[in-house]
Amino acid sequence: MKGIVLAGGSGTRMYPTSLAVSKQLIPVYDKPTVYYPLSVLMLAGIQDILIISTPSDLPQFHRLFGDGSHLGLNISYAEQPEPNGLAEAFIIGADHIGEESVALILGDNIFHGPGFSPLLQSTVRDVDGCVLFGYQVSDPQRYGVGEVGADGTLVSIEEKPENPRSNRAITGLYLYDNGVVDVAKNIRPSARGELEITDVNLRYLAEGRAKLIDLGRGFTWLDTGKPEALLTASQFVYVLESRQHVRIACLEEIALRMGFISAAECHELGLRLGKSEYGRYVMEVAGDFAETRAVAGV
Ligand code: DAU
Repeated sequence: MKGIVLAGGSGTRMYPTSLAVSKQLIPVYDKPTVYYPLSVLMLAGIQDILIISTPSDLPQFHRLFGDGSHLGLNISYAEQPEPNGLAEAFIIGADHIGEESVALILGDNIFHGPGFSPLLQSTVRDVDGCVLFGYQVSDPQRYGVGEVGADGTLVSIEEKPENPRSNRAITGLYLYDNGVVDVAKNIRPSARGELEITDVNLRYLAEGRAKLIDLGRGFTWLDTGKPEALLTASQFVYVLESRQHVRIACLEEIALRMGFISAAECHELGLRLGKSEYGRYVMEVAGDFAETRAVAGV
């Protein structure tokens, strides 16, 4: 499966901060926002990843990640000159997707919860149609909203409805079979002039090929599109990280644990960031990992 991180858009809800910097590069506590969605693709086992952003912001993403090889990834880049909608990602990314299935994640979405990595890995193995992830929120009017029938299957999806039929937001992580490129090419812009991801999902739903996985109440899903949401997300990450001495979305640690890089390579990456607590954590993780394997005789 291929991966796409969509990190464009005008970021107007984050003005003036986003006038000079992409909103997906603004930090959520101790790392750029885009680390969080990228970590989700990595936890799914996806290594071939396209980052899409605006022509002016794309060079900054390149500066941050390069070709991704230090993380055992293959990262490429593509421009979205105008925010023509989320579904445009599949048209821009058609060559990258090739003949494969694809996971799209929005560059401002944060997912954290127990068992997420195994859930993702088993789900991405065989995607027939599309897989959406639902999450209960108090303000569903701000999102795509899914309604399920008595048997738990998805029966409707509406984009930012005034009168939502449920509290179940459709999150910004979407898995599709290869047919999504054609579907995206065949939808029309909505009243607000965008190629809507919800219209893509409705096509799959009409064919009975849209599956919904609910992320339960022990799970956290946040988007960081507005200043207060960014603060909430930073507080969440800070509380967890300082209390447990773990890091959420530490890409070097994930690359190590997924087997994309060795402990020695991970240590080297930490050394480069060594003056920060983040860098020291990466070195510590690499050391502990190597020690555990040595004890186990691996
Ligand atoms: O966060 C989940 C929600 O994302 C879903 O529930 C909705 O169904 C979906 O439409 C989307 O709603 P948003 O209102 O959050 O979409 P927004 O226009 O803010 O775009 C989401 C992110 O994608 C944002 O970081 C900007 C970026 N973006 C947006 C557009 C329209 C792009 O990179 N390119 C675009 O063309």
